[in-house]
Amino acid sequence: MADTYTAALERSNRLEQDILTNPKKYRVLTGDRPTGRLHIGHYFGSLQNRVRLARLGIPVYIVIADYQVLTDHDAFSEIAQNTKQLAIDYLAAGIQPSEDVFIFPHSYVPEANQLMLPFLTLVTNAELSRNPTVKEEIGSAGLKSVNAGMYTYPVHQACDILFCKANLVPVGKDQLPHLEMTRTIARRFNEKFCADKTVSTELGKSVFPEVGKPVFPEPEALLSKTPSILGLDGSQKMSKSRGNAIMLSATEDETAALIKKAKTDSERLITYEPEKRPEVANLLMLISLCTGEEPVLIAEKIGEGGGGKLKAVLTEALNEKLRPLRAERKKLEADEAYIRQVLTDGAQKAQKIAARTLEEVRSVMNMKI
Ligand code: TRP
Repeated sequence: MADTYTAALERSNRLEQDILTNPKKYRVLTGDRPTGRLHIGHYFGSLQNRVRLARLGIPVYIVIADYQVLTDHDAFSEIAQNTKQLAIDYLAAGIQPSEDVFIFPHSYVPEANQLMLPFLTLVTNAELSRNPTVKEEIGSAGLKSVNAGMYTYPVHQACDILFCKANLVPVGKDQLPHLEMTRTIARRFNEKFCADKTVSTELGKSVFPEVGKPVFPEPEALLSKTPSILGLDGSQKMSKSRGNAIMLSATEDETAALIKKAKTDSERLITYEPEKRPEVANLLMLISLCTGEEPVLIAEKIGEGGGGKLKAVLTEALNEKLRPLRAERKKLEADEAYIRQVLTDGAQKAQKIAARTLEEVRSVMNMKI
């Protein structure tokens, strides 16, 4: 597993270079589950990167995976509300909807969902049940019984990625098994349905695939360069459900209060030593993400100021960094009609692309009547 990760990281670093020289080669699809608002870990870890990719002129499609919420949550009363809150976070962070940049809930794109049926026939039960991320989720959710959606959502994720033929997927480490599944599905689909030169020449007239040509790309993972951000307890990943997060929507006072309670240690001299002092290092890293200064230099400046000074510096830096985003967030929150418009426009764009892909899929599977 460690080797797979190192290989993925190397591959991702090479892609990073190529993106800068050939942005036109790429199409990005990525997204989140609408389980709540986003926190600063999401902001530094993924939102900023999406905005950067879009500004490079790369098409960026963002899926809000509302069906995925049903895999391990009983609560579905707030899905639409959370979907809108996610859209607000994306827009406030700097995503600007355009012809090539859009946000959509996948439940609104029937043609993409329909890819699920052929895709399910390309993987085995054994493959589905050994997905390490799925296994981890089942364990940590403490589910009494596991629904089939839990085992099959990685296939549905392949539908999200492949309906638009995305070739670049910015994700965190935990999503690598899902991306591998998407690549497997794309490869098997192409091998099974697209290599057959005896397929009716009628196909030549269809929208895209020339006879025998692959329909789907095998997408690549783009791993985040931001080190994993720990929660304010300093011991585990930042996450809303663990109660150790600062939400983007928090006020400045709430932010100050949360940081005040953050765990540090009793040494007065502040130093950047991630192994020895993970809590202090995490707060220094957060300051660094806000100001662009090296954590070691920030530590030197704080010197003997201790945890109190460290927290004061972080509060100031973070509130300043997020001020424009939070102001924008407030405006967007007051304009529900606009948010709904962004999402329905996005769904419409996605649907147009998905309908073409489904048509190609139908053709190569010889189902076109
Ligand atoms: N599984 C992802 C998560 O839990 C969300 C997601 C759904 C996704 N479809 C996707 C991510 C497609 C990237 C690409 O965060």
